Amino acid sequence: MTSVSGFYIPPVSLFGEGAIEEAAKQIREQGYKNVLIVTDPGIAKIGLSDNVSKILQELGINVAVYDQTQPNPNERNVEDGLKVLKEHKSDVVVSIGGGSAHDNAKAIALIATNGGSINDYEGVNKSKINGLPLYAINTTAGTASEMTRFTIITNEVKKTKMAIIDNHVTPAVAINDPATMYGLPPGLTAATGFDALTHCIEAYVSSASSPITDACALKGIDLIEQSLEKAFLNGSDKKARTDMCYAEYLGGMAFNNASLGYVHALAHQLGGFYHLPHGVCNAVLLPHVQFFNKADPKTEKRLADVAVHLRAKELTADAAIEKLLEMGRALKIPRNLKELGVKEEDFEALAEHAMKDACHATNPILFEKKEVIAILQRAYNY
Ligand SMILES: NC(=O)c1ccc[n+]([C@@H]2O[C@H](COP(=O)([O-])OP(=O)(O)OC[C@H]3O[C@@H](n4cnc5c(N)ncnc54)[C@H](O)[C@@H]3O)[C@@H](O)[C@H]2O)c1
Ligand SMILES: [Fe+2]
Repeated sequence: MTSVSGFYIPPVSLFGEGAIEEAAKQIREQGYKNVLIVTDPGIAKIGLSDNVSKILQELGINVAVYDQTQPNPNERNVEDGLKVLKEHKSDVVVSIGGGSAHDNAKAIALIATNGGSINDYEGVNKSKINGLPLYAINTTAGTASEMTRFTIITNEVKKTKMAIIDNHVTPAVAINDPATMYGLPPGLTAATGFDALTHCIEAYVSSASSPITDACALKGIDLIEQSLEKAFLNGSDKKARTDMCYAEYLGGMAFNNASLGYVHALAHQLGGFYHLPHGVCNAVLLPHVQFFNKADPKTEKRLADVAVHLRAKELTADAAIEKLLEMGRALKIPRNLKELGVKEEDFEALAEHAMKDACHATNPILFEKKEVIAILQRAYNY
């Protein structure tokens, strides 16, 4: 029996200062007339969406804006953005921001061509045709949503985050211009950087990893170990910001194809239950999930490889975990789930939902409920 694995990334990705102007030129060259910009209130406030609108308008392109995407976007954000898209007959979508803006834009672009509601597409490859073309301008490093086939939308009724994993949501062009990140505040730099690190580590220990995803993950870990603290301490450090763009993209290449594990499966529940920031949830959970993962001998060996790339004190799984805790302290990540306001009485429901999240399936150990609760307990008391 053979098993075929695919490798999915956007057809085009642009990196470096000036990448936004280059993307705008490509939008014009493709003959698109009406752009819908999807962004969030924070990006609108710092004037970034206005700048991009101006660049597009100067090229003769009409622009409509939906700027009300909230962190951990929900179905209402998708519906509201879709309304603006239809009113303006947009033929292309440009997202500006971190994961929330991209995920919302991906959902809007998918529904624009496939119809229905975003809930219909939870799961793997449920849509029939490509979404509208999406040019995704990334401003955090990060989720890598600007280049993945994932979109994560909160279901407010079920208090959970739906994972829509669908080749038809992959952006047409992923844009990483480090100049958009010089002003990213330290707290957001730390949280989104830890998200990127989590992507690399979960993809590296994933049961669906391959030599290609391994190479991406380990190089991503290298760059994050070298650059994240520098970007946190000095946001306008060009080299550190540029390296973080590459690192988060490498993490994206890794998890877009090897998928993730219980850190994300649980972080999605914490986001859905308590509206906590995704990167912070990952940062707090990452060492504790790996502590349980190292019970698998193959994963213990893989975590020793991670120790090499994290430049840990010893080349062991335990030293890798210790280094993650140390990095968390240096980047002022909250110490435990208690500090995040998570409640012990919710552990049972959080564990049950996490065991249904698509990301749990490639964790190196398929934990039983009592083990998932034990992970939460360790991350709570630590
Ligand atoms: N689709 C995927 O592949 C994928 C992967 C991981 C996470 N996610 C999702 O992404 C979301 C989190 O995204 P995020 O962590 O990038 O945060 P975010 O997009 O929610 O943004 C957080 C805040 O940062 C601000 N911000 C963003 N860039 C800025 C900049 N350059 N300067 C100043 N402020 C800036 C925004 O205005 C917002 O207020 C979650 O919903 C998570 O589930 C998606
Ligand atoms: Fe993530």
